[in-house]
Amino acid sequence: MANLTSQFFGLELKSPVIAASSSMTGDLEQIKKLAQAGVGAIVLKSLFEEEIDAQLQEELSKRKALEPDPEYMDYFDYIIRDENLKDYTSLIRQAKQAVDVPIVASVNCVSTVDWVVFSKKLEEAGADALELNLFALPSDVTKSNEASEQFYFKTIAEVLKTVSIPVSIKISHYFSNLAGMIQRLSETGVSGISLFNRFYSPDIDINQEEVVGADVLSNPSDYLMPLRWTGIMASKTACPLAATTGVHSAETAIKFLLAGANAVQIASVLYTNGAAVVTEMNQQIAAWMDEKGYSSVADFKGKLAVGEADATLYERAQFMKYFSQKSF
Ligand SMILES: Cc1cc2nc3c(=O)[nH]c(=O)nc-3n(C[C@H](O)[C@H](O)[C@H](O)COP(=O)(O)O)c2cc1C
Repeated sequence: MANLTSQFFGLELKSPVIAASSSMTGDLEQIKKLAQAGVGAIVLKSLFEEEIDAQLQEELSKRKALEPDPEYMDYFDYIIRDENLKDYTSLIRQAKQAVDVPIVASVNCVSTVDWVVFSKKLEEAGADALELNLFALPSDVTKSNEASEQFYFKTIAEVLKTVSIPVSIKISHYFSNLAGMIQRLSETGVSGISLFNRFYSPDIDINQEEVVGADVLSNPSDYLMPLRWTGIMASKTACPLAATTGVHSAETAIKFLLAGANAVQIASVLYTNGAAVVTEMNQQIAAWMDEKGYSSVADFKGKLAVGEADATLYERAQFMKYFSQKSF
């Protein structure tokens, strides 16, 4: 059978199919199933700064009436952060004992302060690598691009100074100069960049006339945007890329490898089809490789990245040619 080995997170992976961070990877039984199904690595559910802060605010508002002492509030802040950290480091330890695939800890940063300290603790707990789930919605019209972007570079630099395990990042596409930003981020010393994270999105219920949460899971056609940017950027980055969002099949995974990604990160399809989909994807990627005569992922990775393929194939954005050829 074809060799599916690939590299991402600064690690050697036995498959390019990675279990992306989600609530599923926050559960030890699911982690065991994913490992058994043949994932190349498992990214644990993120440790969320905002979740901890929300918990803290809830507790503080309950207690404020009873105990207004500011010193006590600080102490309580410490306790909540410590409890969350203990639960997370315990999951890392249990996962490391239970499975033999790399365990990647994930931190969601909206500020830089605690995450540097937290990253060190996650490394000490035995994580093989760290993924920074970096996102700040650039919705503040008074903030300059430079100020928005600074958060990313500052967080990465601080974390890289603190830990010695490989650090990768998962980012959104919300940048005004996306190509330039991906390239500059790739030169910071990170071991990999995953394009692009999927977020909670608002939708509107026209019957209730209210803003509601949109569907959480991706659709199989959602891969097209990350595919374009993988193809454009794979030959221009100083670190490997992985793709995430909309990878629901072996066929889509192969497209990303051809476009130059080292790996794909999957979440939604694990919710709809279960961990067994990983075994199927591995088998189907290997069967395709056998049929094409490729013995390793390196034999075809990037075969259709810009540089090998014409840039205009990825950069064309208007439908003009399409409309002139098709009749509706
Ligand atoms: C239910 C759910 C929970 C998620 N939780 C996290 C998380 O804790 N941290 C994170 O970085 N990404 C999280 N994600 C994003 C996934 O890791 C993944 O990057 C994204 O969903 C795109 O992949 P997909 O199209 O295969 O779902 C979550 C996704 C889903 C669907």
